[in-house]
Amino acid sequence: MNVVFLGATKGIGRAVARKLAERGDRIALIGRDVEDLKRSAADLEALGGSVPATIPCDLLDRATIEPALASAWEALGKVDAVVVTAGLFGTQDALEADADMRDRVLTADFTNTVHVCEASAVRLIEAGGGTLCVLSSVSGDRPRKTAYLYGAAKAGLSFYLEGLDLKYRDAGLKTVLIKPGFIKTGMTEGLPVPPFATVPEAIAPAIVRAIDRGTGVAYVPGIWRFVMLAICSLPKFVMRKLNF
Ligand SMILES: NC(=O)c1ccc[n+]([C@@H]2O[C@H](COP(=O)([O-])OP(=O)(O)OC[C@H]3O[C@@H](n4cnc5c(N)ncnc54)[C@H](OP(=O)(O)O)[C@@H]3O)[C@@H](O)[C@H]2O)c1
Repeated sequence: MNVVFLGATKGIGRAVARKLAERGDRIALIGRDVEDLKRSAADLEALGGSVPATIPCDLLDRATIEPALASAWEALGKVDAVVVTAGLFGTQDALEADADMRDRVLTADFTNTVHVCEASAVRLIEAGGGTLCVLSSVSGDRPRKTAYLYGAAKAGLSFYLEGLDLKYRDAGLKTVLIKPGFIKTGMTEGLPVPPFATVPEAIAPAIVRAIDRGTGVAYVPGIWRFVMLAICSLPKFVMRKLNF
């Protein structure tokens, strides 16, 4: 596959990109630090992938998005999939206390991710179709006291991605919405570790499978589908009492 990848430098994205590289995919890396992208490119090429381009793109700067996609398309020639794993996190307390941080998380995880998706969708559909895979979160499925600001960005993103899939699947755009549970990465370092927590390498194969199959919504690990079903069925008075 020819893949445009935003977020391959760390965490879940890095593990997914490594899986794609192992099977020989061509990957144009876009991200905010070109030196980091070059280090990731060397790692992916050592695994058997090829990285024809490393291109600057800052999810907090909308002006960088379209030029980055244009360069990635040019470098790859044909694009089969766009994968977006870049994102920002802030704890509920930090996001309540710091309006600038709140703005950054909402902008990166919702507004500008939507801009990346819109621009990618137009390009993929124009070329006859392809796959758009984006990481949202189980945190967007139900508001909780400890994560409703970050969760609100992810809820908006999940809602948007499901709508995109409804409207454009028949036009050839397969939108793949990934909802990870708690994954041990730099993003979650220092947070209390809940049950079913795992590492990026454990969920990367399921994400690649979802991309290959064009799965509409995938919880990773799969157990989170049932955990979230249970959490979504709790009445509000119970949610008010729970501190998680
Ligand atoms: N970890 C979890 O438990 C968990 C659970 C549910 C959902 N998720 C979601 O999964 C995705 C990946 O999370 P992760 O745990 O792998 O996080 P991570 O290890 O912190 O990696 C985040 C990635 O996003 C990139 N990024 C951050 N800000 C950026 C910006 N302004 N412009 C461009 N790239 C930027 C980072 O690039 P740099 O190398 O430049 O920093 C890095 O590649 C996120 O959307 C996250 O919300 C994570």
